[in-house]
Amino acid sequence: RVPEPCALVVFGITGDLARKKLLPAVYDLANRGLLPTNFALLGFARRDWDDVDFAELSRTAAREHARTPWREEVWERLSNSVRFIQGSFDDDDAFDELARTLGELEGSHGIGGNAAFYLSIPPSMFPVVLKQMQRTGMAESTPERWRRVVVEKPFGTDLPSSRELNGLVDSVFGADDVFRIDHYLGKETVQNLLALRFANTLFEPVWNSAHVDSVQITMAEDVGIGGRAEFYERTGAARDVLQNHLLQLLALTAMEEPVEFSAEEIRTEKLKVLRAISVPKDMARFAVRGQYEQGWLAGQRAQGYRQEDKVADDSRTETYAAVRLGVETRRWAGVPFYLRTGKRLPRRVTEIALSFRKAPHLPFAPTDTEELGHNQLVVRVQPDEGVTLKFGSKVPGSVMEVRDVSMDFLYGEQFTEASPEAYERLLLDVLLGDATLFPRNAEVEASWAVIDPLEEYWASTTPFSYRAGEWGPRAADEMLASEGRAWRRP
Ligand code: BG6
Repeated sequence: RVPEPCALVVFGITGDLARKKLLPAVYDLANRGLLPTNFALLGFARRDWDDVDFAELSRTAAREHARTPWREEVWERLSNSVRFIQGSFDDDDAFDELARTLGELEGSHGIGGNAAFYLSIPPSMFPVVLKQMQRTGMAESTPERWRRVVVEKPFGTDLPSSRELNGLVDSVFGADDVFRIDHYLGKETVQNLLALRFANTLFEPVWNSAHVDSVQITMAEDVGIGGRAEFYERTGAARDVLQNHLLQLLALTAMEEPVEFSAEEIRTEKLKVLRAISVPKDMARFAVRGQYEQGWLAGQRAQGYRQEDKVADDSRTETYAAVRLGVETRRWAGVPFYLRTGKRLPRRVTEIALSFRKAPHLPFAPTDTEELGHNQLVVRVQPDEGVTLKFGSKVPGSVMEVRDVSMDFLYGEQFTEASPEAYERLLLDVLLGDATLFPRNAEVEASWAVIDPLEEYWASTTPFSYRAGEWGPRAADEMLASEGRAWRRP
């Protein structure tokens, strides 16, 4: 489906996100023929630029980071409708100019008055930008035109601040016009989780506490914090990704079947899970934070977090977080959900692993099954996207020896189509007005309600250290060992 004629306005175009994800996504959409013929791209920033400079930045960004092959003619067509508005967020004239430009484009480029505003800016800037939009009447959808806003996470820093922000956004834009981005929901493999669960009969009967022993959700990154020290220092791993990406993965793993595959029904089921999450009573044992020290990664020396540029020498910001959560529903009561995320871990991998209960009885001698573990179903979100099933199998030979083997489904082998980048998919959905893959307000707040007590506990602690290139601090291993389990080494 191709969206109606429209404009996309990006605030924060000089940031990393715009350069690496948004502008390339616009090009990819155009290249795949998924943008309307009448489309305009507008950038808003303080830089002393004109339309040509912005078009050049967009071209370079798209060339460097686009998923689809470069075709100059696609870019040529796009660049005719690129506009740049110079100004700061408190500059009334600049916003008047933006409103005027949108009006002009309606006539000259036939965009029909439709526009999506992408706030790729720090949350602290939201209020001033939203107020400007309200003042200029830019945020108003009418029967003739739609106006939508896209906000990036982290949405607030805790429950009260997120409520305040939600209140503000909702007072400017209509509830259906607000799109809160969690780019993990744009990943193919994350969407496939729903297909795996609800399009098959094989998995659902065992998808519950009667059969599942525990669930591990891992989002590991080998990279450090890049150039984002200022953001990261005040955010930390839990607010950066646990509050959103990991809890969304948990919600999709644990939710009930939606009545239908629609935005409303999926969000309703996810929300029920988020509300049912319980945090550990024994925080000291089950909520572990870490911070990386100098170490080695892929044969290269990696400096410690505190030595990174613009990070305080005594910083207590966590770059690793692991927590044991419960989901207090009939389906899941008693099953631990272990979540972990970290920077500078040995490799980049995101996966959801369900570990099943052991067979109640084995008719083999113990020595014949030494390598036999729990059956596991692993959904690999990235990289090597796919699903693996681990089960016991007889080792060929004259004796009855059973060992774990795995059965793999790899996206790359079964499908020839390259999957769209998450931002490309989500941007398209915004322009189409499809909110299925966007968390709603209440989900964001329910997620903060999970994180707030953890943060409160952590506020009085210092993160454990781990060496760059290790799988997190020892306390995280002890957390699972204390329950007779171990983290997977993906
Ligand atoms: C972002 C976080 O939301 O996700 C980053 O702010 C993190 O810290 C990134 O690196 C990871 O995204 P992906 O898609 O590369 O797994």
